Amino acid sequence: MPAAKHGFSIPPQISLGTVLNAVPRPWWWWDFITTRKLEFASLSSTGGTVGELLDSAMDPSINYDDLGIIRQMWPGKLVVKGVQTLDDARKLTDLGVDGIVLSNHGGRQLDRAPIPYHLLPTVAREVGDDIEIMVDTGIMNGADIVASMALGAKFTLIGRAYLYGLMAGGRAGVDRTISILSEQITGTMKLLQVNCIEELSPRHVTQLTRLASRILDPELKV
Ligand SMILES: Cc1cc2nc3c(=O)[nH]c(=O)nc-3n(C[C@H](O)[C@H](O)[C@H](O)COP(=O)(O)O)c2cc1C
Repeated sequence: MPAAKHGFSIPPQISLGTVLNAVPRPWWWWDFITTRKLEFASLSSTGGTVGELLDSAMDPSINYDDLGIIRQMWPGKLVVKGVQTLDDARKLTDLGVDGIVLSNHGGRQLDRAPIPYHLLPTVAREVGDDIEIMVDTGIMNGADIVASMALGAKFTLIGRAYLYGLMAGGRAGVDRTISILSEQITGTMKLLQVNCIEELSPRHVTQLTRLASRILDPELKV
């Protein structure tokens, strides 16, 4: 992970390596001096590297009892992100959660985690009538969004796709990302001869079994 390798922290620490890296890049210095300090909205200092912060923030002992307490305390909509098994989807439905996001958070920490898109048909079939299902991870094209919605997702989330736009062109780059994805969505629907989202159904999608985990969906026959 480059951020861990380089000891990325908030605010950034200027090391000798940073200075050497920046010497041939005067425009970096210009940006660094003239733009606002880099900060998270909810965090002014990590007090260490971002990697160390993430390590300390993860609590593996959190369980369904804790979620039950949160459900009792919070009368509003409750959505749980990071669902990776049918069993968890069922438990969350029974707990009265309003929505679930099938996600491995982009596979950035545990890069051998199952692919959420492959779990989608099974979860939609089993709990889709009782809970809203969203999906993310690897959504890089409007066709990915169409396929996910055809398989039962209410909508998809994107992470890196919009960040790529942000890095390339700031706010305008994010707007461009959204318009590219929108064009790809309508283009895909035209090719499928589908007039509206409601017309999409699993018959519009072929999932390659060689990419799907048998454990996720033993019934997947495509
Ligand atoms: C820079 C970055 C930071 C992220 N931070 C979090 C986080 O704090 N909590 C979380 O649940 N997911 C986090 N994610 C994962 C995203 O919310 C999302 O699940 C993921 O990026 C979707 O996959 P994609 O990037 O392939 O679209 C982060 C993703 C990126 C790229």
